Amino acid sequence: NWPKSVTIKEVGPRDGLQNEKLILSTADKIEWINQLSFTGLSYLEVTSFVHPKWIPQLADAVEVARNIKKNPLVTYAALVPNMKGLEKAIACSVDEVSVFMSASETHNKQNINKTISETFPVLQEVIAEAIAEGKTVRGYISTVFGCPYEGEVDYNQVLNICEKLFTMGISEISLGDTIGVASPRQVENFLIQALKLYQPQSLAMHFHDTRGMALANIVKALDYGITTFDSSLGGLGGCPYAPGASGNVATDDLVYMFDKMLIHTGVNQEALVDSALFVQEKLNKTLPSHRMAMYSDS
Ligand code: HMG
Ligand code: MG
Repeated sequence: NWPKSVTIKEVGPRDGLQNEKLILSTADKIEWINQLSFTGLSYLEVTSFVHPKWIPQLADAVEVARNIKKNPLVTYAALVPNMKGLEKAIACSVDEVSVFMSASETHNKQNINKTISETFPVLQEVIAEAIAEGKTVRGYISTVFGCPYEGEVDYNQVLNICEKLFTMGISEISLGDTIGVASPRQVENFLIQALKLYQPQSLAMHFHDTRGMALANIVKALDYGITTFDSSLGGLGGCPYAPGASGNVATDDLVYMFDKMLIHTGVNQEALVDSALFVQEKLNKTLPSHRMAMYSDS
């Protein structure tokens, strides 16, 4: 009993590019995002307003966000860690901002230099101000299914963070399998608990594909009525503060799977492949998705 349609949130220009060695030029990022805007994707996370010392790949966030050509059918989002990031996001007129924190202390500290309890007041201020500015706010929780430093994470810890973030006014929580350790069993066990508290429409799943489990996990989440999934074109990505983390599940593989399952995505596979070929050439590497492997010899 799968849903008839799903929403794919493309995070390649942010999660994908933030972990690539080669830094795309600002012009190439803008061109790539402009192409993605006409693939039928309805949501693009285009950059992040974090410290450029930490993520030099996205140091041109303001130029990128200001100069993309917006398709009115697409929601343009950006990641913000604090008020400084939010101010830039507002100045660049993004439609939505995403705040982020981890379910495990060590990863949170490594990633944003704060303890979990120090993070809440920062996010509370960001969320309130973003809403006052007419933005919707998405919240990411990282290390939901495992932490590179601490191992398994208690679901109650994740659900407590969900409760705090929803109370602060965020519209959707994206549950991050930051290092790609989740299995369908874990996804099921987690969702059984989470869906006692929240509607499936308020949750999104964000799988990295380190162990090749992402599509299996997504099908399991579909069984439980989840309809929003994050992915990166070609499987780009990772997390610089999660050693060994590989890219997000590939948008092109995900769209292929949904098409074959007769689940509507609104995304045009040919247009998607064209824009994957574009970024692949600019990054000078073969993208890791199954779909793009079909082009590796051409
Ligand atoms: P901090 O050093 O604690 O910040 O970093 P601070 O408030 O103490 O300020 C120190 C300096 O940074 C100051 O400058 C600030 O102005 C500046 P100075 O006075 O020394 O010249 N600063 C900023 N500059 C630009 N943009 C800002 C900003 N804020 C302060 N927004 C901070 C704290 C959060 C900024 C830092 O740790 C950081 O930028 N971290 C980013 C980490 C990151 O981007 N990680 C990857 C994204 S999360 C992810 O990938 C997971 C996800 O995909 C889900 C999943 O897969 O699990 C979402
Ligand atoms: Mg991620």
